[in-house]
Formats: sequence, C-alpha cells, structure tokens
Amino acid sequence: MGELLPLEEVKLEHHGLLLCYPAPERKEFEKRLRELEKLGIRCLELAGSKRVHPFSILGKGYSSLVVAAVRRDGLRCALKIRRLDSGKPDLGHEATMHSAANRVGVGPRLYGFTENILSMELVEGVHLPEWLTAVEEKGKRDAVKKVLKETLTQCRSLDKAGLDHGELSLASKHILISREDRPYLIDFEKSSLRRRPANVTALCHFLFLGGATAERIAALMGRISREALRELLRRYKAELDDGAFEKLLSALFPRSVFS
Ligand SMILES: Nc1ncnc2c1ncn2[C@@H]1O[C@H](COP(=O)(O)OP(=O)(O)OP(=O)(O)O)[C@@H](O)[C@H]1O
Ligand SMILES: [Mg+2]
Repeated sequence: MGELLPLEEVKLEHHGLLLCYPAPERKEFEKRLRELEKLGIRCLELAGSKRVHPFSILGKGYSSLVVAAVRRDGLRCALKIRRLDSGKPDLGHEATMHSAANRVGVGPRLYGFTENILSMELVEGVHLPEWLTAVEEKGKRDAVKKVLKETLTQCRSLDKAGLDHGELSLASKHILISREDRPYLIDFEKSSLRRRPANVTALCHFLFLGGATAERIAALMGRISREALRELLRRYKAELDDGAFEKLLSALFPRSVFS
C-alpha cells in the first residue's frame, strides 16, 4: 500500500493538481473534495507507476488522472478524475457505458460516480504489453492462451449487449491484467450503445493481425493463417452469432493434447 493521505489533509496548495489537472482552481477543487466525500472516500493512496510531481498515481490519460484511494468502509478503489481540459463537461456518458459493461460482467466494478469522478474496483496489474514481457521471460504459454481467450470472451459479451467499446483496435492501453492473470477491459469513455459493436473483430486485429503486439503473441502462441483468420472475422462480423464466434475461438485456440 502506498502513502495514505486523509481527505482532511488534501489541500489546494499541495494537492491541487491531483484533483484539478492541469490548472488547479479553488472553487472547482472544493467542489471535487465534496464529490470525494459523497463517494465515501476516506484517503487518497499515493501509489502507482505514473507521476504528478511529486506524487505517484495509477494513471494519467488525456481525459483524466487515475488515483488509488481508500473508502470509509476500508475498501481500496481507483478514482478516475476528469481533467479540466478533457473536452467533456462531465463523466455521465462514461458512467452509463461503464455500468452497461458491468451488467454483462465486463470492466472493473463501478462503485459510484459524480460529475467529475468515477469510483471503481482497483485493478492491481499491468497493461497487456508489459504482462507479455513477464510471460516471455517465464515462458508461460498457457497463460497467454487463457488470458486472450478470456479477453475475447468478454468482447463477445459486449458485442451481444450491443455495446461498442470504441478503442479496442488500439488495445495496449485498454486491457489491464491483474496479478491473478485476470484481464479487465477499461476506459468506456468512447463507448456507444448506438454503433454496431465491433469489439471481437477490433481486438482480433490488434492481437493477431497488426503491429508489434501481434508479432509477440504469434511468437508465443504460434501463427495462425492470416487469410483463414480474415475469413473467420468477415463471417463473424456479418453474422455476429455464437456459432461464428465459437468457430473463431476454435481456430485461434485449437485443442491439443498439451492444453
Ligand atoms: N480500475 C483501475 N485500476 C487500476 N488502474 C487503473 C484503473 N483504471 C484505469 N487505470 C490506469 O489509469 C490509466 C488511465 O485510465 P483511462 O484509460 O481510463 O484514462 P483516460 O484519461 O481515458 O486515458 P486515455 O487518454 O488514454 O483515453 C490506465 O491506462 C490504467 O493504467
Ligand atoms: Mg480514455
């Protein structure tokens, strides 16, 4: 656990950037402190691999900072705090999409939200590329198959629910793998219930067809014929049904006596 900072000690002069990145301002800061109260937060936990000088935090994106915290009931959580320059007035849309994903068992559990802050399950883990590095070092091929199959199955659940994540073709930042090797899809800000969902196909492109990550996965899992995969994806995209998805999975993860 990192350094704990009780809410009463969170001050604009020292911690302004944590709540109001990139340009702290008293009125907004105080409003956000009240939002933290409302979400039942007792302390911020200054830990993680990213930095907002001089503090350690979990993540820093274009629309938010993600900071660990502890609730009054003792549960640790992750807070996604809207940047002032995020280009969106509030987190309402993201919260709606995130809850829809949770309803089909996808994403860190959303505990609550306010205008500027989402409180959710803390995933102690790393992004997929970093996780692959650990796997390459230990040679855990079976773990790769298990995690990728589970991730694609979560994408299938989103497809069935009609929810398009929207950023899975660039998935390096949007999949976290926990210490127990459980994958979590994160960041539903660009998600939509109106577009035709393309989660499975977008993720398959990222994992098996394009770019540096696909190369690393092929080296760990063996290569699948690009033509065969393209055909299976075309079919899945047209039919979007369980049968086409099962065929895709069995081609990607053939059963062998070793697995
Ligand atoms: N529930 C969580 N538990 C632990 N870490 C998290 C959690 N949610 C997000 N993070 C970390 O914070 C980072 C930023 O989160 P997220 O992608 O949701 O923010 P964003 O501002 O929308 O980013 P981007 O600009 O990349 O879209 C993630 O890449 C991840 O490292
Ligand atoms: Mg985002």
